Parts: sequence; structure tokens; C-alpha cells
Amino acid sequence: MTQFDFDDPPASPLAWMEAWFAEGDALDVPNPNAMYLATVDADGTPSVRTVLRRGFDKRGVVFYTNYESRKSLAMIASGRASVLFHWDQTDRQIRIEGRISQVEPEVSDAYFAARHPESQLGAWASQQSKSLSNRSQFEQEVEAMRVKFSGAPVPRPPFWGGYRVSLDAVEIWQGHPHRLHDRVRWTASDEDGFAATRLYP
Ligand SMILES: Cc1cc2nc3c(=O)[nH]c(=O)nc-3n(C[C@H](O)[C@H](O)[C@H](O)COP(=O)(O)O)c2cc1C
Repeated sequence: MTQFDFDDPPASPLAWMEAWFAEGDALDVPNPNAMYLATVDADGTPSVRTVLRRGFDKRGVVFYTNYESRKSLAMIASGRASVLFHWDQTDRQIRIEGRISQVEPEVSDAYFAARHPESQLGAWASQQSKSLSNRSQFEQEVEAMRVKFSGAPVPRPPFWGGYRVSLDAVEIWQGHPHRLHDRVRWTASDEDGFAATRLYP
């Protein structure tokens, strides 16, 4: 596994994150790209849920969802989110805090076009986070979408797409025996720069 030095952290966390994402993705676990997305609702209520990492670069980490879901309304209200990755097998954690933005429509279009056709219909049918009386209603709505698009390519719903969480703060944590863990935090200082600080675990 790639070694990085917590006593002499690199100026940017990017290469370290890329290495840990790649090494995490190689683990024999069902969803190694799972991440926990924390938001704060307009009334200050925090909430957290799992989403899947579908992109990463210096601009931030990308996931896809319904733009009218509870998480989306919270992110629209606060403009911010926090993301957590945890890989138990390697005793690693990455935390991100940042500002949220929708990914470019053409990027969402390309991702949506590559999804399984059933998932495409599901995205159209699911009014994510809204109340649903029973499963059969949802299944009927999926069937209605199947008829509506009748085998033609399914376009991306206008209410569905990607979000990017920027890297305003990044924290990398490596577990060690007896809780003598390693921890370093970067805060973004300007467009491309970060300041790194080692923290007590
Ligand atoms: C392993 C796993 C992966 C998930 N990935 C996503 C995802 O990428 N996008 C998404 O909208 N929901 C995903 N979900 C469902 C969310 O956790 C959540 O239930 C849903 O997005 C509604 O959240 P909200 O009501 O807070 O908006 C996933 C759930 C699990 C358990």
C-alpha cells in the first residue's frame, strides 16, 4: 500500500486521497466507494445517509441523486455538506467538508446514459424522500415510465443529476493499535493551495 508521511504531509491531499480511493476500490467489499453524506436542513437538523462516490478530482467528490430529495433541499439551503469515507479493512478514514454545486449537465447526462435501463426508469419514477403509500404504487409508476419511453433511450430526468462537494477541508486518519492513530487535516487556502496541520488523534 502507498505510504505517506503524517509528519511531513504533502502540500495537497489529492494524491493521498487518490491512492486511498484506489486502494479502497480494490478491497473485496460490496460498495468500497460508499460514502456518508452529512447535511444540515434549513431548520438546523443534521442528517446523514450513504451515497456512492462516482467521481473525484481537485474540484471535489461527485455523487448522483435526486435534486428534489431531502439531502438536496438541505444542500440548497446551506450550500454545504460533509462527506466521510471509512474502510474498516485498512483502518482508514477520510473526511471532507465543502461547498456543494451541481455537476455540469453534460456530465450528468453521460453518467445517466451509462446506467442500467431499469435504474433509469427508477430515477424517473422515484420522488425520492417523498411519502409513498405502498410498493405497488412505485412499481406501477416504473411501469408507466416504461410505457412512456417505450424502448427509446431514456433521457436524464431534469430533477436528477450529480453534485460535487468541494475540498474546503480534508482530514486523513490512519488507525494504529492502542488508539495511537495518525491524523492530518488540510484546509484550502486559495484556488489551488492547502495548509496541512497534524492533529492529535
Ligand atoms: C450502499 C448504498 C448506496 C447508496 N447510494 C446512493 C446514491 O448514490 N445516491 C442516492 O441518491 N442514494 C443512495 N443511497 C440511498 C441513500 O442512502 C438515501 O436513502 C436516499 O438518497 C434518500 O436520502 P435523503 O432522503 O436524505 O435525500 C444509497 C444507499 C446505500 C445503502
